[in-house]
Amino acid sequence: MDRRTFVKTAITHLGALAMGAELSTAAFGNQEKYQREIVSAPLQGPPAQTESVRDYTLLAEPARFEIPSRGIFKKWLYNGEFPGPEIRAGEGERFRLIVKNNLPEGTTIHWHGIPLHNSMDGVPDITQPAIPPGGNFVYEFGAAPSGNYLYHSHFGLQAERGLAGPLIIEERRSHIQYDREYTVTLNDFLSGAPVPLGMGMKAGGGPMVAPPYIVLLMNGRPPEAPAVFSIKSGERVRLRLINLSGATIYRIAIGGHPLIVTHTDGRPVEPLRVDALHLAPGERYDVLLEAKSPGAWPIAASSDNELPPARAVLRYLDSNETMPREGALPEGLTGGQLLKLEDLRGTDLPEMRKPNRTFNFTLAGGEMKPGGMMSPAGMMTQQWTMNGQAYPNADPMEIHQGEVVRIRLDNQSAMPHPMHLHGHFFRVGNVLKDTAIVWTHSKRVELDFIANNSGSWLFHCHNLYHMDGGMMRLVRYLPT
Ligand code: C2O
Ligand code: CU
Repeated sequence: MDRRTFVKTAITHLGALAMGAELSTAAFGNQEKYQREIVSAPLQGPPAQTESVRDYTLLAEPARFEIPSRGIFKKWLYNGEFPGPEIRAGEGERFRLIVKNNLPEGTTIHWHGIPLHNSMDGVPDITQPAIPPGGNFVYEFGAAPSGNYLYHSHFGLQAERGLAGPLIIEERRSHIQYDREYTVTLNDFLSGAPVPLGMGMKAGGGPMVAPPYIVLLMNGRPPEAPAVFSIKSGERVRLRLINLSGATIYRIAIGGHPLIVTHTDGRPVEPLRVDALHLAPGERYDVLLEAKSPGAWPIAASSDNELPPARAVLRYLDSNETMPREGALPEGLTGGQLLKLEDLRGTDLPEMRKPNRTFNFTLAGGEMKPGGMMSPAGMMTQQWTMNGQAYPNADPMEIHQGEVVRIRLDNQSAMPHPMHLHGHFFRVGNVLKDTAIVWTHSKRVELDFIANNSGSWLFHCHNLYHMDGGMMRLVRYLPT
């Protein structure tokens, strides 16, 4: 079933709560056993309210994943799919997501970017106990605001096993017009289980200082067997770019077509034409293409590791060409106009008062230190710090409801850090985002957010190995 059909068949019901113990699930995927099952029940009594609910069931379990021409790998997946199935709703609907844990350890799901109620944020031991093996948990929250998001396990490095997928909330009214859309996901792929950096050994000896990814995937496919996005001349095509990777920052570009940037992290911006943009783990961009160069073109995303760029094909249905020239890469990967965040202008910026409270952080690390969240005692792992502290041995950031909070970040390390705040959008430059890259060597970034969603939230680097190595803080609302 393709995504579009799935969206149309997702269930909408009236007075869902009146259905009591009856379970309505929409599962998905190509495998028989995950085919959608609907148990319909007559409504008992008058429907309490009219609200449309999107029901999904996500089964987290060990599964095999085949990469054409590369082999079959043992992963942990949602509904047997990699990346996880696309979850969708219209703005203003409600999500009800039943998560079943068939893994040999606990799990939770974090709905990255959505400013939901703290109890639904999916952080083990902070917003909920981990869902035990064999257990389940129902996440329920409003689908708002519109935008592209992702969901992933927030239990240790578990997302690196394959437990991540895209989530889309469609706009009621969009500031852009388009004829067709595709979701474009990026993944860095491990052949085995993740280990904290420093713990594993490199093939040639010495501690492993970068995750041993074997391939970069676009829409779950390797460069030599790419996904194909079909378009027609004259169309405007919306691409929803979502980086589901654990540690890879990409530069993405498309042969023969500039990218018209229309949203970042789901928030609308004044359309801006560029040739390429950077996409860090947890970040999302929407871009429009104007289809006026018939042919077959590469969509590619390069990284600074040795692996060939992730790749897909943009194919005009009204052209005879079906594949780009062998090995062809978009010029934007190495030249042309690269998006600068400061050039973007949000269209829905809130009034920002002067900050009531400022946190200054120096980001540093990369040294080998004993310990780390996931490592056995005594092991040396890479440590990543904010003001010299590595989570969980780090001071919480304490704030009050209603404040404007500023976070100033100064990156003194040799690695870029995509910093993500749970439960809130922040203002950076002239846009709203929830994940922003702080580039290397004294690059500074200032984030302002309005404290309007009380609870306990995380603020961390979205390179999962840096997060695991300590680059994380708790943001805690104090009672007023
Ligand atoms: Cu996608 Cu704590 O993050
Ligand atoms: Cu980092």
